[in-house]
Amino acid sequence: MQTNAPTEQLKIVIVGHVDHGKSTFVGRLFHDTGSLAEGKLEQLQLIAERRGVPFEWANLMDALQSERDQNITIDTAQIWFQTKKRQYVIIDAPGHKEFLKNMVTGAANAEAALLLIDANEGVQEQSRRHGYLLNLLGIRQIAVLVNKMDLQDYSQARFDAIEKEYRQFLGSLGVTPKCFIPIAAKHGDNIASISANMPWWTGPTVLASLDEFKLANRPVNQPLRFPIQDVYRFDERRILAGRIESGTLKVGDRLLFSPGNKTSVVKTVERWNAPSSDVATAGESIGVTLTEQIFVERGAIASLEVNPPNDLVRFKARLFWLGRQPFRRGRLYKLKLATQEVECEIEAIERIIDSSTLGTITRTEDEVYVGRNEVAELTLRTKRPVAFDVHADIIATGRFVIVDGFEVSGGGIIAQDDYPRRSVDGSIRSEHIYWSHGKVTAEHRARRNGHPGYVLWLTGLSGSGKSTIATELERELFNMGKNAYVLDGDNVRHGLNSDLAFSPKDRKENIRRVGELSKLFQDAGVITIAAFISPYRSDRDLVRQMVAEGRFIEVYINAPLEVCEQRDVKGLYSKARAQEIKEFTGISAPYETPLQPELELDTDQMTVAESVARILEYLHICAEEDEISI
Ligand code: ADX
Repeated sequence: MQTNAPTEQLKIVIVGHVDHGKSTFVGRLFHDTGSLAEGKLEQLQLIAERRGVPFEWANLMDALQSERDQNITIDTAQIWFQTKKRQYVIIDAPGHKEFLKNMVTGAANAEAALLLIDANEGVQEQSRRHGYLLNLLGIRQIAVLVNKMDLQDYSQARFDAIEKEYRQFLGSLGVTPKCFIPIAAKHGDNIASISANMPWWTGPTVLASLDEFKLANRPVNQPLRFPIQDVYRFDERRILAGRIESGTLKVGDRLLFSPGNKTSVVKTVERWNAPSSDVATAGESIGVTLTEQIFVERGAIASLEVNPPNDLVRFKARLFWLGRQPFRRGRLYKLKLATQEVECEIEAIERIIDSSTLGTITRTEDEVYVGRNEVAELTLRTKRPVAFDVHADIIATGRFVIVDGFEVSGGGIIAQDDYPRRSVDGSIRSEHIYWSHGKVTAEHRARRNGHPGYVLWLTGLSGSGKSTIATELERELFNMGKNAYVLDGDNVRHGLNSDLAFSPKDRKENIRRVGELSKLFQDAGVITIAAFISPYRSDRDLVRQMVAEGRFIEVYINAPLEVCEQRDVKGLYSKARAQEIKEFTGISAPYETPLQPELELDTDQMTVAESVARILEYLHICAEEDEISI
C-alpha cells in the first residue's frame, strides 16, 4: 500500500435489483479508482477473447469475489477501493434477507448506501423494498444511481421521471436521498468522470458524491459499553473478559454493571498477546480485574456511571421475521442482545408491513403474529431486565436477534421511546420521571430563528481569552440577528454553582450542571457560548454526549501557560504562585488539552477579531451542511 494512502474508511453497501447492473457497476468502480491489481483486467479480457465471448465488467466482479471467498483474512480483503479522500469498504448485500441478517447480527454496519435503479425498467418492487430496508436499518445517507442510461439514449426526461417517482417513495418513508445520478456503468459514464453523453447533467460523479458522505459517529466516541463474555478465575483473581463495543475504559474508572446497579473500580486491564496499557478502546478484546470483588456474570454490560444503558423489561423495536414458523404472541422466545440471553414475548404489535409490497397487514385481535418476511413495529417484554440502548445511539447494544428453537429466526433494532432516565449513580431515581416532549420541535425553532441551537464550548486555561472571545462573539451574532448567549464560569459560579469550589469533584459537578444547562439552551434554539476552564477531558466529553449530535462544538482556546500567567488579568496567577489560591489550573491543578477539538485557536498568535471570525466561519459551514443560512 502507498505510504500516503488515506486512513479514513467508510463502509458502504450497494443495493439494487439483481439485473440492475450491480456487478458491472462495482467492476467499473474498481477499475476507475485504480484499485485493480496490475494485469488483472488484461488477464480477464484475454480469457474472454479466447472463449470468443465479449468481456463483461461483471466478470471482473465474479473473479474478485471468488478470490475473496478463498481469502481467510476477510477484513483486509474487504478494503476494495479508495479515492484520494478515503478508503471504501463494500459490504456485501447478496440478497436482502442475508443482508438484513448480517446487519442486525452485526456482521456488517454500513454507514452509507448506493442504490441502483435500472433506467430501462424503472422503479421496481425490489427498489422500494431496498429503500425500506435501508431506512429500517437506520442508513440515512443514500445516493440513488439510475443505471443503464445508454439504453435510454441518455434521456434527461427518463432520468427525471425515475427520480421523481422514487424520491416521492423515499419521501413517504421520511428519507431524503443525498442525490440521484444518471450513469451507464458499462461505459463508465458519470462514475469517476463527468460523461460527455449527458451534457444536461450538472451534478456530481458517483465518486464525488461518495466523498461527500459523512463518517458515522464512531463507536470510540460513544459511551462505554463492555459486554462481559466470560469470567475467568486465576488464583485469587477474577478476570472479566469481553470485547469493548464502544467508548473507552481505563484503570481507575468506576464501572457500572447492567442489568443491576453493582459498581466497582477497574484495577488492571489485561491483554492476551498485546503490549500492556492502562487504557482500552472500542474494538479491543480485553480482560479487567476489579478493586472490589463483586459478583458479575456473562451477559452483564459494563459502562461508566454517566450515560449507562437502559435497564428495563420492555422496549420498542422494529423487527424482521425470517422464521418458518410465525412469531406469535403468547409464546416465549430467546432474545440475544450483546452477550445477554433472556426469554421474551410480544407485548403488543403496533404495525405489520409486508416487506415486498410495503402494504400494512391487518390481523384480528386473536391472530397476533408476525409472519415470514414481514416487518413489525412492536413492543417486546422480557422475563428479566435487559441492558440495551437505542439503535440510533449505539449500534452494538441496540440490536438483537430472536431464536426460535435453535434457529435465529428474526432480528431487530431497538427504537427510540420515552425510556425512563437512569441517573448518574446508576439507580433510577424515580421510575415515574419521563422526558416530556413538547409540540414545538428543534426544526420548528430553527426555521423561525434562521439557525439551529449550538453549544460552542470554549475550554482553556484561565487568562487564555475564553471570556473575551465569548463576549465578542455574542455581540457579533446578536448584531447578525442570531440568538446567542454566553454562559461564563465566573458568572455561573456566582449563582447556580455558588456551592462549588475547585476540587476535581466540584469541577466535575460544575461542568455537569453547566452541560445540562447548555443542553437545554441548545434545545431552545440558542447559540450557547459556554466559557469554562473545564480542565478534565472526561467532563467535557460528558457534555458532548449530552448535547444533540453534531451540535456540540469544542473550541480549544489555546495560549501557553507563560502567556496566560503574564497576562494575569485577574491577578490570580500571582496569588496561586504565592499559594494563596489552592488547586489553581495550570499551577497546582492539571489541564488536560483537548485531543480532537472541532476548533483550536492560538490566542497568542491571533487577535480577538480573528478568533471570532474563525468561529463564525465554522458555524457557517455547519449551517451549510444543515442547509440553513447563518
Ligand atoms: S472549572 O475548572 O470548573 O471549569 P470555571 O471556568 O467554572 O472553572 O471557573 C474558573 C474561574 O474561577 C477562573 O476564571 C477564575 O477566575 C476563578 N478561580 C478561582 N479559583 C480558581 C482555581 N483554583 N482554579 C481555576 N480558576 C479559579
